[in-house]
Amino acid sequence: MKKKKIAPSLLAADFANMERDIKMVEEAGADLLHIDVMDGHFVPNFTIGIPMVKAIKKVSSIPCDVHVMIENPGRYVDAFVDAGADYLTVHAEVCPNLHRVIQQIKARGIKAGVALNPHTPLSAIEEVMQDLDLILIMSVNPGFGGQSFISNTLDKLQRLSKILKERNLEHIEVEVDGGVKYSNIKEIADAGADILVSGSGIFKAGHPAQMLQDMKNKLKK
Ligand code: DX5
Ligand code: ZN
Repeated sequence: MKKKKIAPSLLAADFANMERDIKMVEEAGADLLHIDVMDGHFVPNFTIGIPMVKAIKKVSSIPCDVHVMIENPGRYVDAFVDAGADYLTVHAEVCPNLHRVIQQIKARGIKAGVALNPHTPLSAIEEVMQDLDLILIMSVNPGFGGQSFISNTLDKLQRLSKILKERNLEHIEVEVDGGVKYSNIKEIADAGADILVSGSGIFKAGHPAQMLQDMKNKLKK
């Protein structure tokens, strides 16, 4: 069994105190830093861009998990790798040449991920799955933090786990993003998620560092 990882989503951190919040989650045992990039086209919001990924990388000591919710992500692969991405995840919905984009990411020697929106079937990645390091199952419609977890995701995760097992692809990490909090984290992990992204579930808690540790302990049970 793969180690379950927690990736705090910096979208919910205090942007005016980003370094402080990064150090806090690192000390509390975060495994990855989840960084959400948005373009105001694919999703109706803007967040972090390439210079901010670079700045985050400078002050972090754990891998940067960059989730790009942008159109034409292939155009920016080199820029994100140069900025310090350790994982780069693009959305299947905006990639007519998804295979090419995955190869572009892999050619730069970092981990390649593909994200699927809640309405996008697993079949969208059927022919490229074997090339991936990570599959990101969105459990909310992308664009905003603080939304509720879409319950059908649990069934989708179970179906994905079965496919990965049948195809001997269990080394691929499955990530879940959106509405993950203390109350549902274990159920989501048990359904097949290896990397649990949580933004408001951690940063909006009364004591974020303690919350992260509580989540980690809950995953161990
Ligand atoms: C949503 C982003 C998420 C977001 C999750 O589009 O991809 O990473 O930060 O936030 P929470 O955990 O608050 O749902
Ligand atoms: Zn995300």
